[in-house]
Amino acid sequence: MLGYDTCMAETSTVLMSIKMRASLEGRHISGAERIVEPHLVPRVSSELATVRCGTRRAPDSINIATRAVAASDIAHVSALKVSARDCENPESAQTAMITVLARNNRVSESAARRGIEFLYRTRDMRGASIVCAETGERLDTHGQRGVRVGTFDWADFLCAESKNHRADAVALASKALAAPGIVAEVCISDDPSYTTGYVAVEGSYTALRNVKAEGGKQGGRVLFYSGALSVLPATEQWLREKPVLVEGSWQ
Ligand code: COA
Ligand code: AMP
Repeated sequence: MLGYDTCMAETSTVLMSIKMRASLEGRHISGAERIVEPHLVPRVSSELATVRCGTRRAPDSINIATRAVAASDIAHVSALKVSARDCENPESAQTAMITVLARNNRVSESAARRGIEFLYRTRDMRGASIVCAETGERLDTHGQRGVRVGTFDWADFLCAESKNHRADAVALASKALAAPGIVAEVCISDDPSYTTGYVAVEGSYTALRNVKAEGGKQGGRVLFYSGALSVLPATEQWLREKPVLVEGSWQ
């Protein structure tokens, strides 16, 4: 029989991706995911199901899927550097978004304006829209589904265990900006009581307070893309499926 250490040595070349989504009457309530060592699957699966559903109306369906990922297939990316700006109201938040995006010309000013106008009109999307960083035109063809960034976690287990809304967002943006051709992201949460959004570009994540009024139902994500259209499908697949561990911290 193998000892515990021997088992760990044998399994260290494989990690497990665990994805949880909970719904009520067919409507998505919450989702979360982790990438962990195989022996942690039972504990973390149970935590994902319990923690994320504990405070809301009980879901009638919780789906947990686990899949092995080869450690050699995992990309390690650095966490974006986090800072925060107080904005007085949504109008000044939009101005801040445009200023940050247009910095270093990664996104043209007109594309930034168009992408942000689109973001503020967005409701009920299930993923991100991808828009051209030069023109601001929407490029992905997935309608309300958008492109969902997934298969990622914090590399540091302790960091991952104590995650929160900000931690999830920083990890997601860190993965998104590491994708081929993705140069920036803007986000407004669809949670009516969470009014802090962010803009991410050039290694930085700037949290912006008061991006929307309390109670506002809009919310979404826009990813700015610069590159050949022929490469976009590969970028979308990378965003969805490439296993990524984010090194560093969201603080
Ligand atoms: N909003 C609304 N519906 C959602 C949703 C969301 N955010 N995420 C999933 N769904 C629903 C949709 O109906 C979706 O069907 P669709 O593809 O037609 O839109 C269905 O669930 C299946 O989604 P899928 O992404 O294929 O499920 P999954 O089990 O593979 O992964 C999540 C589910 C929620 C874990 C994943 O989508 C995700 O968002 N991961 C990122 C979570 C995160 O922030 N992690 C932080 C790690 S540090
Ligand atoms: P949230 O920050 O969870 O409030 O999500 C804000 C918006 O981002 C949602 O309305 C979706 O449009 C989009 N979104 C949610 N999850 C993802 C994801 N995993 N990848 C890309 N976009 C997402």
